[in-house]
Amino acid sequence: MADTNPRRALITGISGQDGYYLTKFLQTRGYEVFGVIPCRSPGIGEAGDRLYYADLSDGSNLGQIMDRSKPHEVYNLGAQSHVRLSFDLPVYTADVTGVGTLRMLVAIHEYQQRSGQQVRFYQASSSEMFGKVVETPQTERTPFYPRSPYACAKVFAYWQTINYRESYDMFAVNGILFNHESPRRGEAFVTRKISKAVARIKLGLQARLSLGNIDALRDWGFAGDFVEAMWLMLQQEIPEDFVIATGKVHSVRDFLDVAFDHVELDWNDFVETDETLFRPAEVDVLCGDATKARESLGWQPKVSFEELARMMVDHDLELARREL
Ligand code: NAP
Ligand code: GDD
Repeated sequence: MADTNPRRALITGISGQDGYYLTKFLQTRGYEVFGVIPCRSPGIGEAGDRLYYADLSDGSNLGQIMDRSKPHEVYNLGAQSHVRLSFDLPVYTADVTGVGTLRMLVAIHEYQQRSGQQVRFYQASSSEMFGKVVETPQTERTPFYPRSPYACAKVFAYWQTINYRESYDMFAVNGILFNHESPRRGEAFVTRKISKAVARIKLGLQARLSLGNIDALRDWGFAGDFVEAMWLMLQQEIPEDFVIATGKVHSVRDFLDVAFDHVELDWNDFVETDETLFRPAEVDVLCGDATKARESLGWQPKVSFEELARMMVDHDLELARREL
């Protein structure tokens, strides 16, 4: 009998930036959204009937979660996603970000065999895999050169996803997403660190901002635009991998310019360099070519770099006012 219930999606990493925007996006399309959250704090067993406690470093209940949520689509966003931190926690990062993806693939494959239901799988792959880039711009055909334990873990997960696709005829795809930010961005990532500091400096709540390598260049987009591409990849007839990027490159300095200009301050008066924030190996520049996504998915970014930076500062001004 045909399944007439709403489409169901299971999201690991639902409490993160992308989990937030993807949940909203899917709900507006009538999806029933289920989520996996790691067990870090009190409240065990009170996560709600669509939220399950699970840790990607422990696959023991992932099969059970598949049985309970019966998803048509799984979005694997869960990860130790901080590049600098991955140098301090390389084994943990490999386990959660790399092997965690494999644990999810095993659980899905076994669920498919048990239930006879097909599941579509999205893997949150990363432009960090291009690392010390061998060509610019980077496309789906550019070889990887990972430069951090995080990037190595993502390369492992990328190939496991392709192996499950090719070995078991699974609809499993990699979205190779370039940096994407928003007011929901974690505060340890450079854009949000800056937008939060700009707001607090403007309101007299903070005096200085310490940063590492402000010459780094990234292809920065808006997370709200990028989650739509994740969904589009799972609606295709054939499972394929896609680069998702804006194609425009800016430095951390550029972000400082726009963010401080927005509140009529000069960042040179407030920013200092902290050597401890530099990475043992840096990714100097990333620039993606999303031509394939534009042509096959009809996807393109809507929010510009300048709009993104101002949106984040405005949001953090609101939050900072509550501190007064
Ligand atoms: P994020 O805000 O750091 O969210 C990561 C999510 O993973 C959080 O919900 C976190 O839970 C969860 N998580 C961490 N450790 C876990 C574990 N051991 N088991 C289960 N869940 C765990 O990251 P994001 O920016 O939304 O990115 C989403 C995904 O896309 C990540 O896989 C990231 O590596 C990848 N990606 C991000 C970008 C980007 O620019 N944002 C670009 C390319 C790829 P807690 O909230 O409890 O910590
Ligand atoms: N976090 C941080 N903090 N980065 C800084 C700082 C600082 O104080 N100062 C300079 N930077 C530089 C970093 O050295 C890096 O070159 C750049 O700013 C961006 O750093 P992050 O915002 O931490 O992002 P990322 O590019 O390392 O990684 C993000 O994007 C990847 C996609 O390319 C993360 O979201 C990854 O999970 C994601 O895969």
